[in-house]
Amino acid sequence: MSIPHFRSADLPPAASPVTFQALQDKKQAGHPITALTAYDYATARLVDEAGIDLILVGDSLAMVVMGYDTTLPVTVDEMLHHTRAVRRAVRRAIVAADMPYGSYHSSIDEAVANAIRFVKEAGAQAVKIEGGASRAELVERLAAAEIPVIAHLGLTPQSVHRMGGYKVQGKSTAAIAQLLHDAHTLEAAGAVLIVLEGMPREVAARITAEVSIPTIGIGAGPECDGQILVFHDLVNLSFSPPAKFARQYGDAAALFREAIEGYRRDVEDRSFPSDAESYHLPKAAAAALETPALRRA
Ligand code: KIV
Repeated sequence: MSIPHFRSADLPPAASPVTFQALQDKKQAGHPITALTAYDYATARLVDEAGIDLILVGDSLAMVVMGYDTTLPVTVDEMLHHTRAVRRAVRRAIVAADMPYGSYHSSIDEAVANAIRFVKEAGAQAVKIEGGASRAELVERLAAAEIPVIAHLGLTPQSVHRMGGYKVQGKSTAAIAQLLHDAHTLEAAGAVLIVLEGMPREVAARITAEVSIPTIGIGAGPECDGQILVFHDLVNLSFSPPAKFARQYGDAAALFREAIEGYRRDVEDRSFPSDAESYHLPKAAAAALETPALRRA
């Protein structure tokens, strides 16, 4: 897929951009799908250059970028702003955008109009919506509008108040049956992927085996067709105790702290900037500084 007007001028298109068919083929072949969130140009570039298959501009940005305590306050315009930044950085991965809370809850027409904004104004190749079988009609309408839909089941953070907190879902027989029904219904409605979040490994494995579209897990065990993590959790930038599943692969907080403290020290002891880090006047102009015209009265 080529979206030249959304791409940074210095980035030519990738030789073989990832497609949803390629993700489907990975499921069939038993090759894990890799996904990460990103919310800005710099991190999206690093994620894409590392060969991750799918980049989600998650509404988790409300928490890890904007500092809210839930994902609920982030708006469509804020999500569009971040999706555009990510889009400009990415050559190869699929870029998907989260539909924020409130943007698809009041009417299907409004939801479709909002989803179209993510494609038209920000270059998203797919949107993600949270919820089960009750979203089937919306998934059908979005698919009819040529928008690939990623469904999201289990611990759905936009339902935090209904769930009574961020709790693992799908533990009772009834809840497992509901999740299986939801997954089948969303697949039949045309969803291209399903994110499975915060559920027992055994339940995610069963859903993954039963549906033919790929599942992407987060806190849902290793049998999912792929995995996704929040970028800030991966590199220790989320300032909250990590969830059990959030393996940390680097410590950007320590790296950034050291750099910032070094800078502060150097400014305070005047070792930054050095002469070599300064611009200089040509000799003749420097001499003019000593002439009466430029000498202070
Ligand atoms: O908002 C988000 O980052 C997400 C992923 C964790 C799946 O929904």
